[in-house]
Amino acid sequence: MFIQCRNSIPSERRAKWTYTLDYPSDMSPNTPKDFSWQGQRVFLTGHTGFKGGWLALWLTKLGAEVRGYGLDPYTDPNLLSAARLPSVIEDLRGDIRDAARLDKSMADFSPEVVFHLAAQPLVRLSYADPIGTYETNVIGTARVLDAVRRTPSVRAVVSVTTDKCYENKEWLWGYRETDPLGGYDPYSSSKACAELVSAAFRSSYFHPAQLHQPNGHTTAIATARAGNVIGGGDWSLDRLIPDLIAGFTRGEPVRIRRPDAIRPWQHVLEPLHGYILLAEKLLSPGPEAAKYATAYNFGPTEDDAQPVQWIVENMTRFWGGSASWVLDPDPGVHEAGYLKLDASRARHDLGWRPRLRLETALEWLVEWYKASLTTTDLQALTLQQIAAYEHLVASNLESA
Ligand SMILES: NC(=O)c1ccc[n+]([C@@H]2O[C@H](COP(=O)([O-])OP(=O)(O)OC[C@H]3O[C@@H](n4cnc5c(N)ncnc54)[C@H](O)[C@@H]3O)[C@@H](O)[C@H]2O)c1
Repeated sequence: MFIQCRNSIPSERRAKWTYTLDYPSDMSPNTPKDFSWQGQRVFLTGHTGFKGGWLALWLTKLGAEVRGYGLDPYTDPNLLSAARLPSVIEDLRGDIRDAARLDKSMADFSPEVVFHLAAQPLVRLSYADPIGTYETNVIGTARVLDAVRRTPSVRAVVSVTTDKCYENKEWLWGYRETDPLGGYDPYSSSKACAELVSAAFRSSYFHPAQLHQPNGHTTAIATARAGNVIGGGDWSLDRLIPDLIAGFTRGEPVRIRRPDAIRPWQHVLEPLHGYILLAEKLLSPGPEAAKYATAYNFGPTEDDAQPVQWIVENMTRFWGGSASWVLDPDPGVHEAGYLKLDASRARHDLGWRPRLRLETALEWLVEWYKASLTTTDLQALTLQQIAAYEHLVASNLESA
């Protein structure tokens, strides 16, 4: 696999070049010099899903000991099996609404870090099952944070919500972390509620002013809001990339709703890198960590907010062969218009910025799904893409 790179800063040095992905396997992202994930115990909810699977694999690559907690995978195939995750992490199955099982699973692992990704994440499914969506996304988040309350080893919590948690004013400006929360549909509003739940637990039990103070506590809680994530290993229903891959694989034209809808697309490794950096900051020694116990946006560059049609046409081109699509005149349920995130806080506090341009992200995911047609073991390729991303970060590069 080849990727083209550019350095984002000096324009006169933006010459493109190519290189292969033969990087040292222990290359880690731009972690502080004195921080290591080696031996860190991480409790990760939602490891049987798309983002959780990538994050679990990345954390083990960095040396962490990961216990995953989630439901059985919804789809077959799924990333858990394709990347052989149970060979590198502890794979527990359980419901985040099951307080007894969740408490025990967290407490007897004594993790330092909790990444909470388990959720019902689909807008259209949330219309069909609003109660289930609220139960998992709101009560489930409260259950996870309540389990943290009873697990004194936990020093850092990153709770994942979404860009859709903002009150969407359908304007062109990027939303900041201080903007009002909202949500038209049950999914979006459940994630806004999850933000409120996290904020309430933070102020009630884990107040940043009391972090690492005498008679205080030792747990820093942050939330992370990212946009539409793409990459290999997602087979969910009702998402653009999995729909395209399914149609291309069957050799059938893919029906596309709302080709003009603009979305903030990102490769899955972009927000995950943000979550990892955020956890590292929350683990900072002493009261320093308190300033990161807040909400963070992780959004793509302006150029990579593209309409659905742009994605579809590029995917069709990269896939080649008989790949094709047709317009579906039925717009379906209400979906929010363009929603842009302002990621200035993540840039400033965490040194995070997007690394993979959208076209490269599409090439990577086409390579991943094409490989999945011929092999059932995608752990090596998934790790190779993580290593390529780490190389971009370590060299302060962006893909072309
Ligand atoms: N994929 C995206 O584009 C996107 C965008 C913004 C935010 N997010 C958020 O990122 C997180 C992960 O999303 P994803 O795309 O990987 O979703 P996914 O559907 O692939 O994975 C969801 C995970 O949550 C688990 N889960 C669901 N209900 C559960 C329950 N009651 N108890 C225990 N586990 C449960 C599933 O088993 C699975 O492991 C979610 O919080 C989602 O809202 C995703």
